[in-house]
Amino acid sequence: MDKRNSILPDAKMKILAASVAAVVAARFCRIGGQDAGTTAIDWDKITATRLTLFYPGQSSYEWLRDAAAHKGAASETARGDSCVSCHDDAKEEQRQGAKILRGNHPLEPIALPGKPGHVDVTIQAAYDDKNAYLRYQWKGNNNIEYPYYRYDGKEWKVYGGPRLDKPVQEGKQPAIYETRMSLMLDDGKVPLFKEQGCWLTCHEGERDLNPATKEDVAADPLLKAIKKSDVRKYLPSSRNNPSDWKSGKSLDEIARIKAAGGFVDLIQWRGHRTNPVGGTDDGYVLEYRNFDSGKNHFASNLDSATKQPKFMFDAGKFGAKAVSADQVGKKDNFLIQEQQRGAVRPERGLEGGRHPAEVCPDAGGCHGVRGRQQGLRHLEGRHVDGRGRASAEPYNVGFALHDDNITTRGHYVSYTKTLGIGAKADIVAVKLP
Ligand code: HEC
Repeated sequence: MDKRNSILPDAKMKILAASVAAVVAARFCRIGGQDAGTTAIDWDKITATRLTLFYPGQSSYEWLRDAAAHKGAASETARGDSCVSCHDDAKEEQRQGAKILRGNHPLEPIALPGKPGHVDVTIQAAYDDKNAYLRYQWKGNNNIEYPYYRYDGKEWKVYGGPRLDKPVQEGKQPAIYETRMSLMLDDGKVPLFKEQGCWLTCHEGERDLNPATKEDVAADPLLKAIKKSDVRKYLPSSRNNPSDWKSGKSLDEIARIKAAGGFVDLIQWRGHRTNPVGGTDDGYVLEYRNFDSGKNHFASNLDSATKQPKFMFDAGKFGAKAVSADQVGKKDNFLIQEQQRGAVRPERGLEGGRHPAEVCPDAGGCHGVRGRQQGLRHLEGRHVDGRGRASAEPYNVGFALHDDNITTRGHYVSYTKTLGIGAKADIVAVKLP
């Protein structure tokens, strides 16, 4: 299986990655490569940097500043000390992840016996005049399936879910969720990102952290104004009190912060919902976890009016209209409209038939990801346009890996690192000939 995958495709600037997903067999996942029309890369010649990502559980912005929780470190964290000013042992990430997953740790309420506390990820970076390229490799449980819908004789219900969800914990549903690899990137304009990285975006009120009630969200002026029904990642600068998601600034103030570059890019490779169509999400975090403008890669396959899936597989091409239980995880169960032209609408009565909950609505849009890169235009201006600024500053980056059928807090994360595109850094992008 050799799938091309591009992040941020645009004529001007791309960070690209492709997947040679030896995912299931060798349990080894690589993302990296190049898109059609871009420089061929001999990855064996590109410097590799090994990072350790660890399990952070519920270590939110607020937990880190709570004297009773983050003992002896709350005031230092609040005043802006970097995490690694204290967490600086050679094997600190391994120690921390193991401690949180040992059981009975306040940061992880669910016992996850056998789950490793950390994962090593090898990262390579390269660039040419137009694009930057990243390649990631790691070993893990890299499922690339996504939950399905299943007809139970009466109605279509979700089948499968992320491992930490209650029905999965209770054994009522199988653990099914796509593997994802994400990068958060700051060009130096987000206060404290260099010191405290992704943790700046992780707050009480979000899905795994005392989630806000529907009523509270509906009553919140900012979330109402941006038409959102929950609290997602946000940067401290978007709130008057960073520890209170309800204290949102006005849209005008937020727009000013955005225009001044005070947001982080969030670039996410998804094993199920973007990789099969050669894509990667391009988003950013400021007052919410936003997507950049342009068309999304995926959409729900459930028709909200009829409560039925919109599409099933074209049996002539896929071999069946639905996926049977024994085929989950065994082959490429991607419902891609372009490849399934003539994908049929489901009829009632296909009992036990399942099919993917998500379908790519328009593969043309998927490949083009039109306009989904505004967040990174500064990359080109500053580093990659060949005009060479010798004094270019490196980017501050944080990585997250969701593997093992997991989402939200179940990821592995890195402390902040630097990525140099024409600059010295922890991860140095190699200039391609
Ligand atoms: C002033 C030093 C200091 C700073 C700065 C600091 N920590 Fe800590 N952190 C500690 C200490 C000490 C503990 C152990 C507390 C305990 O034993 O209860 C800890 C505990 C933790 C834990 C729980 C797992 C463990 O190792 O016990 C996490 C997760 C954590 N810190 C993350 C962070 C992050 C993320 C930042 C930056 C935003 C940060 N820390 C900043 C000193 C610090």
